[in-house]
Amino acid sequence: MKKLLKKVLPASLILKLLGIKPSINLYFIRLFASNGFLASLYFTFFSSQFRREHKAVLQGRLAYARSLKQIGVSCVLLRRNIHRLEKGLIMQPRRKIFAEDYIGETVNCYLNALNSKELCTEERKWATDVLAAYFSVVGSSKLIDAARRNFQAVNSPLQGSESIPYPHKTLPECPVSYQQLYTLFQRRRSVRWYQPIPVADSLIQQAVQAAALAPSACNRQPFRFYVVNDAAKAATVAQCAMGTVGFADNLQCVIAVVGDLSAYPDERDRHVIYIDGALAAMQLMLACETLGLSTCPINWPDIEQREQMLAQKLGLAYYQRTIMLLAVGYAQADGGIAFSQKKVTPTLIKDVSKD
Ligand SMILES: Cc1cc2nc3c(=O)[nH]c(=O)nc-3n(C[C@H](O)[C@H](O)[C@H](O)COP(=O)(O)O)c2cc1C
Repeated sequence: MKKLLKKVLPASLILKLLGIKPSINLYFIRLFASNGFLASLYFTFFSSQFRREHKAVLQGRLAYARSLKQIGVSCVLLRRNIHRLEKGLIMQPRRKIFAEDYIGETVNCYLNALNSKELCTEERKWATDVLAAYFSVVGSSKLIDAARRNFQAVNSPLQGSESIPYPHKTLPECPVSYQQLYTLFQRRRSVRWYQPIPVADSLIQQAVQAAALAPSACNRQPFRFYVVNDAAKAATVAQCAMGTVGFADNLQCVIAVVGDLSAYPDERDRHVIYIDGALAAMQLMLACETLGLSTCPINWPDIEQREQMLAQKLGLAYYQRTIMLLAVGYAQADGGIAFSQKKVTPTLIKDVSKD
C-alpha cells in the first residue's frame, strides 16, 4: 500500500503527508487513550506490540497449573504459602487461628512436593520446618486439625536448627559503612569495553549466590540467570538486543536475566517478574564489582523477531520473558566510561507527608 501511494502521489504531497503524520498519529492516540475499551481496541486492531506479552501471560497461567501437578526442583505455590505462614508466625500480636483458608491447600501441595524426587532439599526442609512451627502454635479448628493430621502423618516435631522465623537481633552486624557502600555504587558503572580474559564460572556462581539474597514478592524468586560464558556465543546473544551496536563482539560473558510467568495463577502479578528480576540483577552487578568484575545492563526490547531469536538461542519457553541482558567481564583500564549525570536528590524526592 505504501509503495503504491508513493508511486501514484506527487512527491510534494507525499512530503506534506509525512510532515503531518506525527500529528495525525497523536490525534488517533489521544482518541484511543481516552478510555480503557478504546485502548483495548487500539491494541487489537492497530498495534500488535502487546501480543506476545498477552500470550505469554496466558501460557504462564497454564504452566502454573501444570507445575502444581509435576513438581520440579521448586514449587511456586509451596514457596508462596510457606512464606505466608512465616508472616503469620511473626505477626504482632500473633493470632490464635491464622492461615485457616489456605492451610489445607498448603499441606496438600506439601505432600505432593514430598513425592517429587526433584524438589530441592532446602525447600523441602524450609516447608517442613515452617509447617511444624505453625502446627505447634496454631489453635484448633476443623480445617486446621484435618491439615495437622495430614502433616503429622508424615512428620515428627521440630528437632533443632530449623529454617523458621528468628529475631532481628540474631542477624549479623552490618559490616559496611554508608560511605563504603556509596563508594561501591560509584564504582559500579556500565562498562562496555572488556579485556579478552575469560570469566571463571566460580565467580559467576558467587555473584548469583549474592543475587539470590535479593527480596522477591512472596519469596517466589521467579527468575533464572542464563549464563553464556563464552566470548563467541556471548556476542551472538548480545547481538539479539538492540543496544549493543559496536561493542557486542567485545563481550566475554553475557547473562540473560529471565523471568518466569509460570509463577502466577493470575494476570495481576504479571509485572512482578520484572521487579524481582531487576532487584536480583542489581545485586548481581554489585557482587560482580566486589569480585573484580565489571558489568553493563543491556536493554531487552519486546520485539517479536528478537524474542524468537533469543528464545531459540537460550531454549526459552513462551512464558519465559527476558528482563535484561548483563555483560560481565574484566574492564579495560583505559576503556571509556560514560559520565551519565545522575539526577540530584531533591529532584528524586517528593515529600508528600507535608501536603
Ligand atoms: C534496564 C537497562 C537497560 C540498559 N540498556 C543498555 C543498552 O542496551 N546498551 C547500553 O550500552 N547501555 C545500556 N544500559 C546502561 C545505561 O545506559 C546506564 O546504566 C546509564 O547510562 C547510567 O550509567 P551507569 O550504569 O554507568 O551508572 C542499560 C541500563 C539499564 C538499567
